[in-house]
Amino acid sequence: MDSIIVTGNGPLKGQIPIAGAKNACLTLMPATLLSEEPLTLTNAPRLSDIRTMTELLRSLGAEVTSMQDGKVLSMSSHNIHNHTADYDIVRKMRASILVLGPMLARDGHAVVSLPGGCAIGARPVDLHLKALEAMGAELDLREGYVHAKAPGGLKGGIVDFPFVSVGATENALMAATLAKGTTVLKNAAREPEIVDLARCLRKMGAQIEGEGTSTITIQGVDRLNGATHPVVTDRIELGTYMLAPAICGGEVELLGGRIELLAAFCEKLDAAGINVEQTALGLKVTRGNGRVRAVDVMTEPFPGFPTDLQAQMMALLCTAEGVSVLEEKIFENRFMHAPELMRMGAKIDVHGGTATVTGVERLKGAPVMATDLRASVSLILAGLAAEGETIVNRVYHLDRGYERVEEKLRAVGAKIERISGQ
Ligand code: EPZ
Repeated sequence: MDSIIVTGNGPLKGQIPIAGAKNACLTLMPATLLSEEPLTLTNAPRLSDIRTMTELLRSLGAEVTSMQDGKVLSMSSHNIHNHTADYDIVRKMRASILVLGPMLARDGHAVVSLPGGCAIGARPVDLHLKALEAMGAELDLREGYVHAKAPGGLKGGIVDFPFVSVGATENALMAATLAKGTTVLKNAAREPEIVDLARCLRKMGAQIEGEGTSTITIQGVDRLNGATHPVVTDRIELGTYMLAPAICGGEVELLGGRIELLAAFCEKLDAAGINVEQTALGLKVTRGNGRVRAVDVMTEPFPGFPTDLQAQMMALLCTAEGVSVLEEKIFENRFMHAPELMRMGAKIDVHGGTATVTGVERLKGAPVMATDLRASVSLILAGLAAEGETIVNRVYHLDRGYERVEEKLRAVGAKIERISGQ
């Protein structure tokens, strides 16, 4: 397993290009199953999760061709010969559940392994299943698989989500495009990735209104066409790299960044004393000489503070002046970066879903363990400004969501290198 060694190396300066969004691409790719015509995605990120989704779609019979070093994905699902998504792929990546809605909508049957939990929580898929049942699906859970049928095709229905779920909204939205009649999704997720999916589906001929609000209305159509669609900028990669100059000092411009993707996050950076400016090329982040100020953070569904940036924000607040309180409201176990940051000298008190961080002057490098995707990158960020050397182990987590992280950070002056493990 590879490790990454980071050494505190002073202020950063330069530009970092932001890739297409992992969490948009992982729902745009299954959308190919809705049509027999080719769907081409541009601005796709080069990540192991995208390769896993490619493997899954190919196992179903879809053709996926990766071009331009992985930035373009050309997909065609004209002959789906297998309707079973196997556990050995699904367990590697939960987003695999997103093939369920499209397969069911297009061919009236699908068998998909339940994804199981992951490091940050149990992560059930009950809302995905309830949404499809509201559209007439017959579901049977056997030996860890969902056996789904819709003999006469899905029918439009009212789906009232008891709480916001990004994935369940995506599964229901895709399924509803081919359902007979009108579907209304209430308390739908409003993330930019949902908006991006709706825009792509509309290009394919879907009739959708209200994406980006809590109520999305879909008028089912008989079939969808192909399309070409650019994957939206990754707001989580953007926020992650905005924290690099915030933690180290200096000035970094994040190419492709837009404030509206991360308004709540930018408000917190502003409160902490970090300057964020929209430029023609992206977002320019600078930090003056003073210490960062402590701020309180509570994670919420979009447009609130993103849970996927909570670990990274904690890395910044470890050396802020004062006490910060972080409340994780989305997942039940998303503070596993805290004990690792404490190995670096951070003062963090975790009780249930609340972490209280008392800022210290500076962290000290240490060997630390990556436990999940966003926790691992928060350790890299902490190591950028820590005194001495930080070794982050198990960085395969990192490669799921960050393309070429050491190249991007080295380009702005970070002292960082990857050590290949056995
Ligand atoms: C998506 O996961 C993202 N993943 C996550 O990013 C992100 O953290 C999450 O949305 C919240 O923004 C992808 O898009 C591939 P949810 P998802 O359904 O769809 C519970 C990353 O780091 N829930 O909005 O799985 C669930 O357990 C990843 O890139 C149910 O109880 O998230 C969680 O507590 C991590 N039943 C909460 O709802 C369900 O049927 C929100 O989950 C579905 C979810």
